[in-house]
Amino acid sequence: MNIVVTHGDALNQETPLLVFGTWKGAALPEQLANLLEAGDWTGNTKQTLLLYTRGAIPARRVLLLGLGEQDDAHADRLRECAAVAAQRAREAKAERYTLAVPPLGSITARAAGQALAEGSLLALYRYQKYKTGLKDEDTREIEQLTIVTSEADQAFTTGVTTGEAVAHGVMLARDLANAPGNELTPTVMGETARQIGREFGMQVTVLGPSELREQGFGGILAVAQGSQQEPRFIIIEYGAEYANGPTICLVGKGITFDSGGISIKPAAGMEDMKMDMGGAAAVLGALQAVGELKLPLHVVGLISSAENMPSASAFKPGDIVKTLSGKTIEVVNTDAEGRVVLSDALHYAGRFKPAAVIDLATLTGAIMVALGPHATGMMSNDDDLSARLERAGQASGERVWRLPLWDPYKDMVKSDIADVKNSAGRPGGAITAAAFLSAFVDGYPWAHLDIAGTAWVDRQTKAYTPKGATGGAVRLLIETLQSWL
Ligand code: BES
Ligand code: MN
Ligand code: ZN
Repeated sequence: MNIVVTHGDALNQETPLLVFGTWKGAALPEQLANLLEAGDWTGNTKQTLLLYTRGAIPARRVLLLGLGEQDDAHADRLRECAAVAAQRAREAKAERYTLAVPPLGSITARAAGQALAEGSLLALYRYQKYKTGLKDEDTREIEQLTIVTSEADQAFTTGVTTGEAVAHGVMLARDLANAPGNELTPTVMGETARQIGREFGMQVTVLGPSELREQGFGGILAVAQGSQQEPRFIIIEYGAEYANGPTICLVGKGITFDSGGISIKPAAGMEDMKMDMGGAAAVLGALQAVGELKLPLHVVGLISSAENMPSASAFKPGDIVKTLSGKTIEVVNTDAEGRVVLSDALHYAGRFKPAAVIDLATLTGAIMVALGPHATGMMSNDDDLSARLERAGQASGERVWRLPLWDPYKDMVKSDIADVKNSAGRPGGAITAAAFLSAFVDGYPWAHLDIAGTAWVDRQTKAYTPKGATGGAVRLLIETLQSWL
């Protein structure tokens, strides 16, 4: 769906469907109020009412859209309301529709434009690549959304353009995480990165098994050795011309299927483990959005990609692995594979002398127990970076919640016979995973985002977040990156 922004009186627009958002308690314009009986309309959040205008205004139909109380309004509510409107418009089989922007109050024009664009586009996302025999109405898309503001406003238009690029990145991440493991292998992950690099002018390097062996990526190789699928380590560099400013590294866990390996997972729900590359998907989605927005910032994406399988050649409990950093890992559980592949990537990130490294990983079931699907877990060695991410979480509607990373947790992952062990059991499982990672973080500000609960949801959480892959953390990352501009 294409979005255009115009300005003028929304009630004068000729359109098959006018979405008219109103705050709770606000008086409706007379032309619309005349179409209602008293008591039909409250303006509660996400309430909708479809009206036939019968010539009262040029629009053929009006969809009243409740925005809730204006006093405590925020951009994410607009995002959700725009999402509901887009879905109603599609149900109403509109080929195009118009959205009237309400008075914004304390929400900035820029944030509103971005939220409305994101909500509208993300709500229409469907993953139906593998459905055959679809009917026309299952695949028909809305061609155009026209957003009408009362006055011309450059900030609003900039917000819409930003929101479009971000939504494209989110949808790329969703497509990748929804893709089955037999389609999206580490090899395909590398090719996808190359493609994005070509399209948006990024330098992409993909290392395969022989290079990984030569250079000593022992963590990635250990996890991959039980699979027929070759591992990949992917380096995507955007904006090298801005390297005089800060360099930000985004590191993604790219396990294209996590069976658990020799410490095999139970059968129930194992199919969802095709999403164990949600961190890598977020990195690629964010980088694509950065490219589309042409952000003047040096951003480096690093992805460790492998498949975790049991076999005669698989790594096994008790094995000791020498990582790229030279540090050794005692493998006590092959299902704690994410931290093992990330150890190499975090060490590699040090090469770029980064101002910040943010890693994203569907790392632990424990974070789902702690936070559920409504917040990403964060552990960090740096208060400033944490605060940046918390602010970006508020602004983007993708909240993060920091957990402690005190020394006693680091003691929990010390090994008797190697430098660290890859599991300390269930207590504090999300934190001990981060404590393990911290052993490979060397002298740069770092934040670990455990997106196991937010990258994939079993049921819809927001009107713009369908069940399955959410594309989680792309919006958060773009908002965070913009804090360095
Ligand atoms: N990929 C999983 C974590 C996960 C679980 C992501 C559920 C999304 C949904 C990870 O590799 C894993 O298996 N972690 C183990 C660690 C344990 C063995 C220390 C876990 O959380 O159980
Ligand atoms: Mn695992
Ligand atoms: Zn995993």
